Amino acid sequence: MNKAAFGVIGLGTMGRNLALNIESRGVAVAVWNREQEWTDRFVGENAGKAFTGTASLEALIETVEHPRRILMMIPAGAPVDEMLERLQPLLQRGDVLIDGGNSWFEDTARREQALRVDGIHFVGCGVSGGEDGARNGPSLMPGGSTVAWTLLQPVLEAIAARTEAGPCVTHVGPGGAGHFVKTVHNGIEYADMQLIAESWDLMRRGCGMSAAETAEVFAAWNKGPLESFLIELSAQLCRVKDPVSGQPLVDLVLDKAGQKGTGKWTVQAALEIGIAVPTIAAALDARVLSSLKEERVAAATVLAGPQVQAGAAGEELLRDLPAALYAARICVYAQGFALISGASRIHEWRIDIAEVARIWKAGCIIRARLLDPLRRAFSSTPGLPNALLDPSMARAVADAQSSWRRVISRGVADGIPVPAHATALAYYDSYRSARLPQNLTQAQRDAFGAHTYERIDQPGKQHSDW
Ligand code: 6PG
Repeated sequence: MNKAAFGVIGLGTMGRNLALNIESRGVAVAVWNREQEWTDRFVGENAGKAFTGTASLEALIETVEHPRRILMMIPAGAPVDEMLERLQPLLQRGDVLIDGGNSWFEDTARREQALRVDGIHFVGCGVSGGEDGARNGPSLMPGGSTVAWTLLQPVLEAIAARTEAGPCVTHVGPGGAGHFVKTVHNGIEYADMQLIAESWDLMRRGCGMSAAETAEVFAAWNKGPLESFLIELSAQLCRVKDPVSGQPLVDLVLDKAGQKGTGKWTVQAALEIGIAVPTIAAALDARVLSSLKEERVAAATVLAGPQVQAGAAGEELLRDLPAALYAARICVYAQGFALISGASRIHEWRIDIAEVARIWKAGCIIRARLLDPLRRAFSSTPGLPNALLDPSMARAVADAQSSWRRVISRGVADGIPVPAHATALAYYDSYRSARLPQNLTQAQRDAFGAHTYERIDQPGKQHSDW
């Protein structure tokens, strides 16, 4: 029997598309799925291609050449642990097992250690780009050992999206580093989606624009510094008409945002190590509040807001919006990169932030033109504490800030919620304040709880009889 060079476990949308992508690069792939019909159907539909369907995990392991490279695309959480329990006794020293799902990085670190005992390399690999990315070129964020990376590199580089700076994959770092970076990617995704949604709301309610008109605005923005997958997608979505009613389909979508948990994980991880990611947290809260649809509908009849005529904000708001969105987006990436740097320091992952910016430039959901200057910022100053301190980023925000402040003021004055925009601006204003009012906070803590404080003019801890 011909051996396969790669194995794929799990033939859901992502697993199937990654298997097709890998095979299309001239790599023979053995596949296994829990429901055997899926395996049979997949192999049947792809007759003539270098796939081998296997009926058991034992058969899969038997079919893939040693050292094995096997990718699991199965739901995160307990299913991964159950699968590892079944695979660990079957795999051999030197084999590489990849978890391509959105797993919690601490689970990944634990699993990596557990498999290392038997000499098996476990790689938690972030995969971004959805269905299309998986098939045609995702952004890949593998963690784990350098030995595993050496074995995986040729295949991962072949299947990843590409830019002029190479394939969108890099060895992120040891242990759970890859999954951590993917989690933060999703946190940035949440915040950027929320910023776009708020900007859209301002166009709809503030400027009184139709969905079709906003599509044209998004399309125009996408030709400038805001160019990104999510802006391009928004333009496309706002053009779609419901085939039955003829209305814009987006207007028929219930305004309750779902979430699978990676945004929450980003905020939890940030809280855990004390890195501020207020805009990601605001995006998360916005989804939570949106889900209270029935309560909001009831509250809308009792809670008063400003009496503003729809569309009264007009031209100035529309002119200011792209600059505001650009400045806020810079702050979101600054928060995300600060979180990755902080975690990398604590866990000793030695993550190269410029490389992360490089591999996010194509294939993934948050791909954006902004990642080019961000990459330049972190490659010219590798230890940069915050992206906002890079001269080009600082200039970009300075140039945009009048517009940004007017946009937020407009939202506040008209009662249109702009939590992500406002927290991004508050982040910027706090970070650039040499003196903040937390001296009063410290005085309060010392006064009511004798928690002590430090003085600006003397070293050491102080306590006063306030
Ligand atoms: C990606 C996406 C992907 C998925 C998110 C959606 O990078 O391809 O981020 O991982 O779409 O998990 O997350 P929510 O369901 O939480 O919005």
